[in-house]
Amino acid sequence: MHHNSKHAVDVTPVTGGSALFGGCDAQSLAAQFGTPLLVIDEVRLRSAMRAFREAFVHPRWRASVAYAGKALLLQAIAKIAHEESLSIDVCSAGELQTALRAGVPAQRCIFHGCFKTDDELDLAVQSGIGYIVVDHRAEIDAVALRASRFGGRCDILLRVNPGIAAQTRGAIQTGAPDSKFGFAIDDGQALAAVAAAANSPALRLAGIHAHIGSQIFDVDSYAREIVRLTDFAKAVHRSLAVTFDVMNIGGGLAVADSPGTQAPDAKQWAQTIFGAFEECFADLNLAKPQLCVEPGRALIASAGTTLYRIGVRKRLPDGTVALIVDGGMSDNPRPALYEADYAVTLPARARLPADGTYKIFGRHCEADRLFRDVALPGPLPGDVLAVHGTGAYTYSMASNYNRFSRPAVVIAAAGRARLIARREPLEHVLDLDIEPDAAREARTAAVLK
Ligand SMILES: Cc1ncc(COP(=O)(O)O)c(C=O)c1O
Repeated sequence: MHHNSKHAVDVTPVTGGSALFGGCDAQSLAAQFGTPLLVIDEVRLRSAMRAFREAFVHPRWRASVAYAGKALLLQAIAKIAHEESLSIDVCSAGELQTALRAGVPAQRCIFHGCFKTDDELDLAVQSGIGYIVVDHRAEIDAVALRASRFGGRCDILLRVNPGIAAQTRGAIQTGAPDSKFGFAIDDGQALAAVAAAANSPALRLAGIHAHIGSQIFDVDSYAREIVRLTDFAKAVHRSLAVTFDVMNIGGGLAVADSPGTQAPDAKQWAQTIFGAFEECFADLNLAKPQLCVEPGRALIASAGTTLYRIGVRKRLPDGTVALIVDGGMSDNPRPALYEADYAVTLPARARLPADGTYKIFGRHCEADRLFRDVALPGPLPGDVLAVHGTGAYTYSMASNYNRFSRPAVVIAAAGRARLIARREPLEHVLDLDIEPDAAREARTAAVLK
């Protein structure tokens, strides 16, 4: 394997110097489906899902893994997660409908969100969702109301804020003392919420949930979270005689994203989590809860590769050479948002040595700086450029900025690629507008009514 970019990526070269994605050649994929194109390698995705599921098997604890759909949820992805025995964490009507349309039973879904609309709560309760993760006081009553209206009981978890600042970027840190999510443990809100939920006949309070952030490299953050959650469970048992059947400790495990970084794997994460629970429950008289984790990024990031076509090559005033690709912040906002880094290769000449370093830009009307100092072997306009590890939080965060349409997504395995999301037709974007004349007529009609 030749690494012609900043750090190691698993690109298999074939004769002729090209590289394969799910056994498919990058040039053929680009020619057949157009660019930008998100390619998901099915084997890598399924093996990541299996690795997590297997890591969370333990002789003394029951544990389950949920896939956090916010990373990338399309029907095909939801179906694969379900086939791999993962439950699915959803946080909107759109994500829940996607899972349901893929044939995932509502019972296998967990509904999150800091502000769920009335329609979303109706849909979740009516469809028989596995758990609703209740985030604030009024939502306890809102869920209870629907559960009794739809003639049943609803299983809930309470999202608590353990007040832990995980070592990660501010925008994706969600368990710090000033986070908007959940009931704070420190000021007594969480205890009051348990009392309210446990007293509601329409609810079954199954347990608690917390999520301390994303792209977390330091697994000890989870051990600290577990200590906080277990201390809370003890306090709840002592003062309210309520026990938790479920403790969901969230997702957030990091993936390696810049040169020289290494992320913990599923096994290391699981060992830390089980170890912390073993310690916390060692001298407790409480029944062991069922554990749940819900990673998103760590399950799907490395299975994705974005293919772009280089459109422009030019020398910049500072002497560096810029490449402009046919996408950018509309299909992957992460470089602009977090200066996220990725490995970049030129599949057609994967085996050749780099002839220099390049600055790569997207074609949007901002700097749209994607990657700097990328070593590549003579990239030219017309070449396909591969950005690796883009499975998570790219397509799911895509926008129509500059009135671009969203890219297509394919899933590839054993040399065959299947479209799982069509390229958004530009007509769909344009059709949302109401023509100025039609708008005026509609307004007049409304006034006359
Ligand atoms: C409640 C919850 N669970 C799980 C996740 C998944 O995080 P990650 O993709 O970093 O594993 C998130 C991410 O925002 C989340 O908010």
